[in-house]
Amino acid sequence: MSADTKVIGQPLNRHEGRAKVTGRALYAADHPASSVVHAAGVMSAVAAGEIVRLDATAAEQAPGVLAVLHHGSVPELHRIDEDMDEGRKAAEERPPFEDNRIYYFGQFVAVVIAESLEQARWAAQLVEVEYRVEPHVLTLDEGIETHGAKPQEDEESLRGDPDAALERAAVRIDTTYTTPVEAHCAMELHSTLAEWDGERLLLHDSTQWVFGQPRTLAAMLGLPEDKVIVKAPFIGGGFGSKLFLWPHTVLAAVATRMLRRPVKFVLPRQYHFTTAGHRPFTRQRIRIGATPDGRLTALRHDSQSHTSLVTDYVESCGESTPALYSCPNVAVTHELVPVNVGTPTPMRGPGNCPGLFALESALDELAVTLKLDPIELRRLNLPARDEEKDTPWSSNHFETCLLRAAERFGWSRRRQEVGAMREGREILGWGFAAATWPAWRDQADVTVELRSDGTARVECATQDIGTGTYSVIAAVVAELTSLPPEKIEVAIGDSTFPRGPISGGSMATATLVPAVAGATRNALHHLFGDGKTGVAHSAGWAEAWRKVGRTSVVGECHAEPGDEEDAFAFRSFGAHCVEVRWDPEITKLRVSRVVTVIDAGRIINAKTARNQVEGALVMGLGMSLLEETVYDPPSGRVVNDNLADYRVMVHAGMPELDVTLLDIADPQIGDFGAKGIGEIGLTGIAAAVANAVYHATGKRIRDLPITIEKLLA
Ligand code: MOS
Repeated sequence: MSADTKVIGQPLNRHEGRAKVTGRALYAADHPASSVVHAAGVMSAVAAGEIVRLDATAAEQAPGVLAVLHHGSVPELHRIDEDMDEGRKAAEERPPFEDNRIYYFGQFVAVVIAESLEQARWAAQLVEVEYRVEPHVLTLDEGIETHGAKPQEDEESLRGDPDAALERAAVRIDTTYTTPVEAHCAMELHSTLAEWDGERLLLHDSTQWVFGQPRTLAAMLGLPEDKVIVKAPFIGGGFGSKLFLWPHTVLAAVATRMLRRPVKFVLPRQYHFTTAGHRPFTRQRIRIGATPDGRLTALRHDSQSHTSLVTDYVESCGESTPALYSCPNVAVTHELVPVNVGTPTPMRGPGNCPGLFALESALDELAVTLKLDPIELRRLNLPARDEEKDTPWSSNHFETCLLRAAERFGWSRRRQEVGAMREGREILGWGFAAATWPAWRDQADVTVELRSDGTARVECATQDIGTGTYSVIAAVVAELTSLPPEKIEVAIGDSTFPRGPISGGSMATATLVPAVAGATRNALHHLFGDGKTGVAHSAGWAEAWRKVGRTSVVGECHAEPGDEEDAFAFRSFGAHCVEVRWDPEITKLRVSRVVTVIDAGRIINAKTARNQVEGALVMGLGMSLLEETVYDPPSGRVVNDNLADYRVMVHAGMPELDVTLLDIADPQIGDFGAKGIGEIGLTGIAAAVANAVYHATGKRIRDLPITIEKLLA
């Protein structure tokens, strides 16, 4: 922790922790609403085709049923004009029930609204649907054969002549990696409680974007923007699945507008696997050319990922490839392949998560070929500047991360040969991989009210998805005012507050910190008449309040990135060392140690920041060893669409985690120098595990997850 701050950098408890553990924190579906009615969906039972007959008569006559929404009964919904800056983006461009087409198994074909949830569910089964079934495609190969692969120019990067350089290279690697569909599995189910007061639509919604959700929804419903309000004070995890508007939220809004009753739509877990996003399949070919002493001369990263037939979602696998290492000849391409599954969406560490599994596995393969230490190989190719953007780094402590991780892990004791490190029956494997994530920052408006009773209130239309945003905001105000954090009311999760950032792309903290600091300083200026912080005035508060003759002052700030965005490259870096233990006699594999070192700029709250990286590592070990959404080839149905069959990592399976945050302020990103920390921990970890598995077993697993079956094959 830096010595020049009193609160920032401390391991503070969650600002909202007491409200959460005492049950006072209300999530979307908890919100009390009188005479609330309930929604239940009817999902498509086929993966492709058309609805030729839908008969809702029996459902409509069932007890308690108020309405059945489907293509024939839903009011007109509009396709939106997508614009992230304006706050408009839907996860699926196609409004629900737009046509009678079926694009994927588990697509909504009808929604029943009834007095009770049980009545809605019962009636949903009574909706008769007849389909004209068409052949569907599920895999990348089937999709390419039927629909072709669409090149994505926006994802491309090229410098030098990578093909010629590969041709000339003394040492070459040419390998292909695949990753499966993964589900977000947030604890809190996607939920919307919609109320219509005759003029305005009020939604209590589990969303990662309270600023964008009402604008997107208003556009789709054809309402003025100010007629839709979204509240989301607490969200039980999102991981990307709650970034953008999904059909169930639209349908809850439509229903409440039709019925003039509050409508609650809690999406059953099953639907989370079909119509609330997932990480798509990827197939990535990596080609590397190098000199015999380990310098990269050529790098090609050619990726494919799937999308749905209703919306294009691109998984940017090669996002960091042109920047992470120094190399004169680089090419990155991406192709999108439509298949008959629901629409993919960002999932924590999108792009770089599968991307670094491929790139960092391939670098390990190069290290093995060269008989070079894998960390040494990275050190030989560290980029002095961002060679893609052709600018200096705002800050880059990648090498410190590598060295610190190696030191904490005891990497110098590693023996290079496969299977050479034994402990009893177990063979130890030690693997390394890098982590990286762009250090994005967006715009934000914040107001800070200081009150003469020694309290303060901060307002911003952002949200805390469990990541620590409440605590980060409170820490900045506390730092500058010397008020105790618990005296600071943090009002977020309400779209009527000043514009705040999305909780996505790991950019909320870097965006909010300068805006909160600016608004706090502005409020202090109103109170004290100068630009100094409250700390400098610890004795003079009472007098200042007397002088100003009011009981509260309000400071405002609009903060956004400036010219530094063009002058510097902003990126975070990290390093993972992983130990696996392989017992060949009983074919048991486990991860026994993880050492991770992250450079994410200045750390605002040491406790919640560490919690983010530890959580990412839990997800990362799940990605490495367990997670895979399985589709049934004949039907296109998700076979494991529940938390019993879709396996995620649990505490019992977790090894010791040793997480170090370098905590070095970035001098360019704004006040206090914080970069985001939510996603970086998940990037690279799967490669570190795969590389450790190779070191133990000699088996190179290029297809996630790393299962025993693959090790025995
Ligand atoms: Mo993150 S996948 O941008 O919520």
